[in-house]
Amino acid sequence: MKQRQDAFGHALLDTYSYRGGFAAIERDDGYIDLDCPLEKYFTGYDKWSYLERQTIRNARGKVLDIGAGAGRHSLHLQNLGLKVTAIDKSPAAVKLCRLRGIMDARVRSIEELNPEDGTFDTILMLGNNFGLLGSLKKAKRLLKKLAACTSADAQLLTQSLDPYKAKDPLNLSYQRHNRSVGRMSGQIRMRVRYRNYITPWFDYLFVSESELRHVIEGTTWKVDALSHAEESKYFARIVKARTNSSCTQALSRGCQSAL
Ligand SMILES: C[S@@+](CC[C@H](N)C(=O)[O-])C[C@H]1O[C@@H](n2cnc3c(N)ncnc32)[C@H](O)[C@@H]1O
Repeated sequence: MKQRQDAFGHALLDTYSYRGGFAAIERDDGYIDLDCPLEKYFTGYDKWSYLERQTIRNARGKVLDIGAGAGRHSLHLQNLGLKVTAIDKSPAAVKLCRLRGIMDARVRSIEELNPEDGTFDTILMLGNNFGLLGSLKKAKRLLKKLAACTSADAQLLTQSLDPYKAKDPLNLSYQRHNRSVGRMSGQIRMRVRYRNYITPWFDYLFVSESELRHVIEGTTWKVDALSHAEESKYFARIVKARTNSSCTQALSRGCQSAL
């Protein structure tokens, strides 16, 4: 990512340095969202919602925080003694994670992640970061890649917003247009602007509960638990599905002990 493209990271860095950061989210139909308070990315555990706290309490083993931002989840888990790797596409966000004390913070996009980065037991994609999976096709590809970077009993702790709970007519017509051109309703093409920084356009994916299940189908992951928070927000714990062969092995072990 070129320096001038690192809008979100510089907005976070300036919020940290002198509280002057902001982020304008521009959608490809021209809609601009200025309601993105960045202070929330610096909040500690005691300021998180009940469900966010419950979700993070599931973290165990080696943790990979994808799209860590200012690193609030990584920092919390590192302070609890877990081994955490924070990755972010934004060099400024990674600089900020390091400034805030995260010991292993790397400039890495989810697309660049590979098994040489390590084998993880918990993956975090919080703060709407299920959206980083981008589209149905890309999500299936990336989820398979995440499966290759994780242990056999790994879990993915994530959060999304149900796009069908939207009420704004502009959002509803954007969703209708998406469906008419074969995109998922909540597949938002956007870019982030801050001062003279502008990210490239990218797709961010919001899914309903049933779409979440559809997205992960066939990827070796399955939904283990899902909890609805306020408005359209929900948290999910996704685990590795047992393969047929491991089920068969378990069944045959059961048969042997029955004989
Ligand atoms: C909405 S913020 C969430 C930050 C953090 N997870 C939290 O909840 O506080 C999204 C973060 O994902 C990063 N990001 C965007 N695209 C990414 C990608 N393809 N790979 C890795 N990180 C990405 C952004 O730079 C940003 O820091």
